Amino acid sequence: MSFKEQIKQGIPLELPAPKPYEPSINHAPKRKDILSIEEKKLAFRNALRYFDAKDHATLLPEFQNELKTYGRIYMYRLRPDYKMYARPVSEYPGKCEQAKAIQLMIQNNLDYAVAQHPHELITYGGNGAVFQNWAQYLLTMKYLSEMTEEQTLVMYSGHPQGLFPSHKDAPRVVVTNGMMIPNYSKQDDWEKFNALGVTQYGQMTAGSYMYIGPQGIVHGTTITLLNGFRKINKETYGGLFVTSGLGGMSGAQPKAGNIAGCVTVCAEVNEKVTETRHSQGWVDEVISDLDELSIRVKEAIANKETVSIAYDGNVVDVWEKFDEDNVYIDLGSDQTSLHNPWAGGYYPVGLTYEESNEMMANNPTAFKTEVQKSLVRQAKAINKHTAKGTYFFDYGNAFLLEASRAGADVMAANNIDFRYPSYVQDIMGPMCFDFGFGPFRWVCASGKPEDLEMTDQIACEVLEEMKKTSPPEIQQQMADNIQWIKGAQENKLVVGSQARILYADAEGRINIASAFNKAISEGKIGMVVLGRDHHDVSGTDSPYRETSNIYDGSQFTADMAIQNVIGDSFRGATWVSIHNGGGVGWGEVINGGFGMVLDGSDDAQRRLESMLYWDVNNGISRRSWARNNEAVFAIKRAMKKNPMLQVTLPNFVDDELINKIELTENNQIKN
Ligand SMILES: NC(=O)c1ccc[n+]([C@@H]2O[C@H](COP(=O)([O-])OP(=O)(O)OC[C@H]3O[C@@H](n4cnc5c(N)ncnc54)[C@H](O)[C@@H]3O)[C@@H](O)[C@H]2O)c1
Repeated sequence: MSFKEQIKQGIPLELPAPKPYEPSINHAPKRKDILSIEEKKLAFRNALRYFDAKDHATLLPEFQNELKTYGRIYMYRLRPDYKMYARPVSEYPGKCEQAKAIQLMIQNNLDYAVAQHPHELITYGGNGAVFQNWAQYLLTMKYLSEMTEEQTLVMYSGHPQGLFPSHKDAPRVVVTNGMMIPNYSKQDDWEKFNALGVTQYGQMTAGSYMYIGPQGIVHGTTITLLNGFRKINKETYGGLFVTSGLGGMSGAQPKAGNIAGCVTVCAEVNEKVTETRHSQGWVDEVISDLDELSIRVKEAIANKETVSIAYDGNVVDVWEKFDEDNVYIDLGSDQTSLHNPWAGGYYPVGLTYEESNEMMANNPTAFKTEVQKSLVRQAKAINKHTAKGTYFFDYGNAFLLEASRAGADVMAANNIDFRYPSYVQDIMGPMCFDFGFGPFRWVCASGKPEDLEMTDQIACEVLEEMKKTSPPEIQQQMADNIQWIKGAQENKLVVGSQARILYADAEGRINIASAFNKAISEGKIGMVVLGRDHHDVSGTDSPYRETSNIYDGSQFTADMAIQNVIGDSFRGATWVSIHNGGGVGWGEVINGGFGMVLDGSDDAQRRLESMLYWDVNNGISRRSWARNNEAVFAIKRAMKKNPMLQVTLPNFVDDELINKIELTENNQIKN
């Protein structure tokens, strides 16, 4: 059967042979056994509803075994035999180009070179799922191969609800992931309802088919590091950055460190993960011995080398060792997956990787205690370094949140704030998001590297032209982004699809997209898919990350993210998604995304202008209403350029006036 025929058949009528478990693949850890007997029965009923009754007796023992052994029913048997990767768009079956492009994006998210646990349909973050099981994958691809421009595919947490009649300007796919009644949004609720097969954790770009490998985050991390070093007035050359994680997103850190020019030490407990990053050239050296590491780092700093070193072990040991050996750390952070602390996101010091995996499955209570002890120890070591001058920032992975919950010494004197800022509070928020700069990205659907090269060139020319008249407030951002795009080819960032990320503001995104659409219409390049990740101006409400520099109390609301996805969907997005979960944890964030296919048509031009404008300015207006000065500047500038935009602006109150009032604790005004 050809590739196209396999896609079109969906779930095969005759069950394929069972698939052997491949130990060489990086698999998801065993999930918690959380279901009661009755709930387990429900999970089987739920799984079997994808199949004809004639196959139920065959599949039931298999699903029972999967639930028992892995904690979830992945339906491994249905994993397709063809290679999983983003093919040129012309190789996909379908009745509309948009749906073919979405198939390409889905397969990219599951590519072995891209996905963290490809057999469990997890793209990154330990639990960022594209689908819950292989039946959902097969069915979704089939629907996409059949849909027309008059239909919309509805996705409920990985489950394709079906094709519904719509119209050509409607999104082709609407994705929701992990949307819960708010009271059922605790970590164990995810474990339970995911095991039942009725919800999934889509993370951000995993469940919205917009992951482009670690490149997506390299750019943001590079900007963070450059600005971090600027903040402490230190040259990147000869500076030391210490952190952890070589996984989906964290794996970008060594590469970003190299682009910035510093020495990077990144600890990673999972040997397979380290091997992957090393073989991809994303980290230069691997060292397994702490003494050797210490000596090598001192030498690299002295020689002002630009080098990235993976430490094959636990990050807590690195912090402690560098304190003992007086290795001065300029910038420090952490990117273990603490949004998922009890199920494989964080490996406690003192246990081997295997011991941890065993304990988290068989003795979750003891494992939780180990994680908390380890976090306390890690924070203690970090505090010793910061006392010597290290600038430590939380990398949006809930490190400070979980450390505080573990009782670590990470609170500020007021006992409300953390003693360290998050990278959004200090760096990305005021310097990028409030001005509208965020992670605009595109994928060349032809799969041709030449197309990517041409789009890089086009984007660079657009930005250089814009920089000539940009106000001084955003000159630094423009310069950083131009430098990035100029070095992009040389830095060999592509893993998976022919994709590029480039921070840009609303005007930059629209101008670049328009130039692409023109180049497509002139036949210079093939179709382009636009998107962004959720680490952005408007798409995400996340009080400890994207919106951590919102200080009017609204950081705990999610109106912006919901408004954003609704607004994108009727302004021309090809697909939209809204998720509960994301980087900082289930129940801790709401984030939305979009994908937009450019085919060189006038329709595409109309859609991109309308949707990209809203997609950025929605967030700027909210940030401005929260009294962020940079955003007030940006939204006033946008209103001046387009009189159709009319945004409510905040008035600033003199704090002296407020502070004069005498207040009692229960807020009854005395006089
Ligand atoms: N890169 C960014 O800009 C960014 C932004 C916001 C949030 N984050 C957050 O960063 C975290 C990491 O994301 P990811 O996609 O890389 O996740 P991931 O799970 O793919 O990678 C984390 C890695 O940390 C390793 N690890 C866990 N505990 C460790 C320990 N004690 N010592 C050394 N290594 C350890 C794991 O083995 C894993 O490979 C997530 O919580 C994510 O939300 C990243």
